[in-house]
Amino acid sequence: MDGVDLSAVARRVGTPCHVYSASAIRERIGALQTALHGLDAQVCYAVKANSNVAILQLMAEAGLGADIVSGGELWRCLRAGIPPHSIVFSGVGKTADEIADALDAGVARFNVESADELDLLQRMAAERNVIAHASVRINPDVDALTHSKISTGKSENKFGVGIDEARRWFGASAALTHVRLDGLHVHIGSQLLDLDPIRLALQRVATLWRELVAAGHSIGSIDVGGGLGVCYRAGHDHPISAEDYANVIRGALAGFAGRILLEPGRWLVAEAGVLLTQVIRVKQGRQRKFLVLDAAMTELVRPSLYGAWHDIVPVTREARPPQVYDIVGPVCETSDTFARDRALPECGPGDLLMIKATGAYGASMASNYNSRPLAAEVLLDRGRYAVVRRRQTFDEMVAGEQPATDWESP
Ligand code: LLP
Repeated sequence: MDGVDLSAVARRVGTPCHVYSASAIRERIGALQTALHGLDAQVCYAVKANSNVAILQLMAEAGLGADIVSGGELWRCLRAGIPPHSIVFSGVGKTADEIADALDAGVARFNVESADELDLLQRMAAERNVIAHASVRINPDVDALTHSKISTGKSENKFGVGIDEARRWFGASAALTHVRLDGLHVHIGSQLLDLDPIRLALQRVATLWRELVAAGHSIGSIDVGGGLGVCYRAGHDHPISAEDYANVIRGALAGFAGRILLEPGRWLVAEAGVLLTQVIRVKQGRQRKFLVLDAAMTELVRPSLYGAWHDIVPVTREARPPQVYDIVGPVCETSDTFARDRALPECGPGDLLMIKATGAYGASMASNYNSRPLAAEVLLDRGRYAVVRRRQTFDEMVAGEQPATDWESP
């Protein structure tokens, strides 16, 4: 992978470990930028997909901005050198502290998701005597045709506001002395493999943009969100190409003179990553044969949480007869299952496998459950590798915990 022998990485760094190819990420960035050629577009990488500082640095070097959803993500981005003027702040639960940090850092724009948040932003910007740029996150009531747990654009979802409410905000925007409400934002969901819902959502946003401009408002930015899907299952998932995606944006926003923002996460990093894991043992149960790995839901929760499929393959390809396994981790939950009834070349203890397309929502969703230290992360680049997160030590794992000796009365 990226000119590096993965077995050697596994020997040096140990397993489980996340491995990412810098070349593959740069290739995706390049493909997207080529597809967007001629548009005034800024790609703001959705940090939640993979927030390792080394990955963020790679994005910064390529000129990408960031889409953040927390004070922690803001902090990481600043640390990685992503300029605040290319950071947009999304999320339904921005706290006053987070808004304060973002205003003080000078982020480009807030994607505002409720009237309460808009009021708070106005008050806090006024206190600091700064002008905050804001976009309304539109909930277009479109079914993204993806897993319900990662669908965000239906009216029943917590995200954004309806078009009527957005209209009212603009109608009352003259009263906002310290917020410039001059943008629209939409994000209907993640792992989208169908262009139709994207087109429909953008058309609804475009209709609103034209109406607002006709009413005398100025719209400087339309943020089309992220969501572009990837291939988790070879021969089964057929991702949308960057060109087709860009053409839908071009079509829907034709005539828009402002800046178009995009917030892809998964598409940039998912297929650039694999999770390296060793077989601990093969266990023949009464009904099923289990392949017990040293990776678990703590390193990759997607199969447990969404029933997501990830292709799993041996790292070294020897001809061995196929076997059907339930592929599981060591965590004490039945949901700690990567795959059921999956055919693999026969495996034994010590065999090295890779779980594919884990570069997004793998390490960034990791946990210490069962007191498992966070796994190492490794970046590959044209024949070289660098450890970009060392495996957590037990000491680091319990840092901040202490016996209850300092009792205080409130
Ligand atoms: N923008 C906003 C406002 C978002 O909420 C998200 C993702 C993105 C952009 C980036 O979406 P992407 O391009 O990565 O699909 N943990 C789930 C995915 C949750 C996505 C949440 N929001 C998974 O593993 O499938």
